[in-house]
Amino acid sequence: MTVQEAILLRRSARSYEKRDIAPEIIEELLRMAQAAPSGGNSQQHVFGIVRDSERRTALARAAGGQMWIASAPVLIACCARLDEDWRTLPEDDFGLRVNRLRFGAGFLQHLLAYPNWQETAVFVDDAVPLIPAEHMVLAAKAHGIEGCIVGLLDVQAASRILELPENIRCLYLLPLGYPAKKPGEKTVKSLEELSFYETYQTEHRGRT
Ligand SMILES: Cc1cc2nc3c(=O)[nH]c(=O)nc-3n(C[C@H](O)[C@H](O)[C@H](O)COP(=O)(O)O)c2cc1C
Repeated sequence: MTVQEAILLRRSARSYEKRDIAPEIIEELLRMAQAAPSGGNSQQHVFGIVRDSERRTALARAAGGQMWIASAPVLIACCARLDEDWRTLPEDDFGLRVNRLRFGAGFLQHLLAYPNWQETAVFVDDAVPLIPAEHMVLAAKAHGIEGCIVGLLDVQAASRILELPENIRCLYLLPLGYPAKKPGEKTVKSLEELSFYETYQTEHRGRT
């Protein structure tokens, strides 16, 4: 399967066959995650492999009661090693400079004043595991395995279930399995709607 085929054929699956996923496949997926890009090559992503049925059920409950998640033979807990307490970092710290530019100095100051550094870091590092997770999803597709990135999640509850230390939080779940059903129809936005060449106003004048 080419990369293009994997991308175009991938769909989120929410029901799975009982069939297990071989450990070698999981290891291959972890290697795909390992190869992912990350800001400043910080590689803050951490992945937990969960096969235990009770733990899968507990995680499904933490995902707002999306109990179909527990029926996947393997759950990947997509975690991030959180940024340190920024209040203790020097002004010219690289991460601080990046975020000051991205979010604006005012908002960053506001974030830094928030008393719970861990909650701030969960907010700022939210996207950390997503690109590596998508690498895994696309590589899994080549084995006939589908998954579904799950963001509706009680991060603190999931992190407790996984016995994570304070500086690592589980931000997303990725249930994986051999799909039991064909996916439903999906509408996609047109290229005109989701792209522009040069400036937005060239093609979308007056539109938002
Ligand atoms: C960041 C993110 C969070 C998501 N969270 C959930 C979720 O909590 N529950 C769920 O059923 N699907 C979730 N999805 C899957 C989307 O619903 C799905 O990707 C979308 O409907 C498009 O369908 P497709 O993946 O089959 O192309 C999430 C997807 C992303 C990218």
